Amino acid sequence: MKRDWWKKAVVYQIYPRSFMDSNGDGIGDIGGIIEKLEYLQDLGIDVIWLSPVYRSPNVDNGYDISDYQAIMEDFGTMEEFERMLEKAHGLGIKIMMDLAVNHTSDEHPWFIESQKSGNPGNPYRDYYIWRDPKEDGGAPNNWGSSFGGSAWTYHEGRGQYYLHLFASGQPDLNWENPAVRGEVFQMMNWWCEKGVDGFRLDVISMISKVPGLPDGKMNGGLYGDGGPFYINGPRVHEYLQKMNEQVFSGYPLITVGETPGASVEDAVRYTGENAHELNMIFQFEHMEGDPDHPGKYGKWDAKEMSLPQWKRCLSKWQTGLEGKGWNSLYLSNHDRPRPVSRFGNDSPGYRACSAKMLATCLHMMKGTPYIYQGEELGMTNAYFEKLEDYRDVETLNAFEELTNKRGETPETVLGYLKRIGRDNARTPMQWDNSSNAGFTTGTPWIGVNPNFTEINARQQREDPDSVFQYYKRLIHLRHTMDVVVHGRYELLEPEDENLFVYSRTWKDEKLLVICNFTKRELPVPQQLSDRIFPDTDVVISNYLTRQDDRIRPYEATVYLIKGTGEQG
Ligand code: GLC
Ligand code: CA
Repeated sequence: MKRDWWKKAVVYQIYPRSFMDSNGDGIGDIGGIIEKLEYLQDLGIDVIWLSPVYRSPNVDNGYDISDYQAIMEDFGTMEEFERMLEKAHGLGIKIMMDLAVNHTSDEHPWFIESQKSGNPGNPYRDYYIWRDPKEDGGAPNNWGSSFGGSAWTYHEGRGQYYLHLFASGQPDLNWENPAVRGEVFQMMNWWCEKGVDGFRLDVISMISKVPGLPDGKMNGGLYGDGGPFYINGPRVHEYLQKMNEQVFSGYPLITVGETPGASVEDAVRYTGENAHELNMIFQFEHMEGDPDHPGKYGKWDAKEMSLPQWKRCLSKWQTGLEGKGWNSLYLSNHDRPRPVSRFGNDSPGYRACSAKMLATCLHMMKGTPYIYQGEELGMTNAYFEKLEDYRDVETLNAFEELTNKRGETPETVLGYLKRIGRDNARTPMQWDNSSNAGFTTGTPWIGVNPNFTEINARQQREDPDSVFQYYKRLIHLRHTMDVVVHGRYELLEPEDENLFVYSRTWKDEKLLVICNFTKRELPVPQQLSDRIFPDTDVVISNYLTRQDDRIRPYEATVYLIKGTGEQG
């Protein structure tokens, strides 16, 4: 098998808790995934990114792992996992494991051992990042956690604080300790031997901390910003090269690092052909707000970018990695609101059309596309009205901090949560129009979006004009057209505030991708109409009829211009 098979692949992310429940306890599980593998085969994807299924007390829905080599009881057994893997492989689908090794759960046996004081000879003593209190008894530094509050929690028994960049139930592993690295690599090899096909590495850009753990800048919040001291830290590349050497190099894997805070230059270091680290990373820039107008409360009140800013951002990654690294392409995952609600228009008249437009804009770019469950149906934000509807630890902590400590009204904060909270994407997958959208016969762990009667997989598989069928066609194009995989990207009309236009060039073929991000019908810019006429074929469009003189609301049309590309 070619080592870079993943350049032609399309990945589908499953968030197991919300995908399909097979035993009526209201929680999605591995049995449910097994039932739905044919659905994924029909969609045409190559790889499943499986959000964590390891044993976990679920402080952060599985991203707090208490046993890396066991399956979470809610999700099933190791035997079922093996059945899933075998069936997926039989259908031509690979499985990429989501692995959180920046931190474990505080119920992991390593942490339980580590927190025992008394015995300085305990081998687990330095598995985590422990520090003495400051003279006044306070935390060792001023860093805030990504989930609110201090990044440090005091442990009575040890008389010390431990570091957790996320929830207090997610203590950070001490990667400086060679024993920790050894255990992690051994565990990863164990999964490879079981036959898994790759890893998505959770917040992997954060595993190396600057020694001394200096205080961060206070940016008007309650805590300092430790980011510069743990994002892309001093030894992160060394650690990943070791991981590559000791794990990845032995198998034809797909590897993707989740790397908040990575720049294009960092990405080249992580993913370059000669870097021997990762195949690709998830960069965050296009998912964040306008960098020139940061919110007072980070993502919660950040202003969205203008379309020209957003285009510049995505294009910077396309051109910056050309010939040097490889992009991942995504607009959604389990941490983000639904793209049709955020970047498109989820009102009934435009929802399907704008969802297809966004998909076209993303899937015609260069890189490996990721589809998050339900995105292929154009599922929308949950828009929960009440705090009680939310389940996510980040969301609940933010509500508490912004109302109690920052003086915002509950109404204001509920507005933030509706717009950007993570639970928007975590409502159950909408399979059909029976009760609970066919997700469970029990009571779902989180509310089902009531729009499942209109938006569901059964209906869309039968409707040739559905969002689902459109995703199938996009995936097929990647599998069959070299220009989609390899073509060089060029942004056109960069200042246009309504249209996202770009081309892809490969040998003697050129694709012209035109996407209208508004609900208005627009004239075709002159330079483009010269290109569109007369010798072009439409490769795909979200409108059934071709019309070259106007660009219709949320239209996306991809033209193939033959014989005008570059040689080579
Ligand atoms: C990643 C995951 C997110 C999780 C966090 C801590 O960002 O995608 O869901 O909460 O890491 O593990
Ligand atoms: Ca279940």
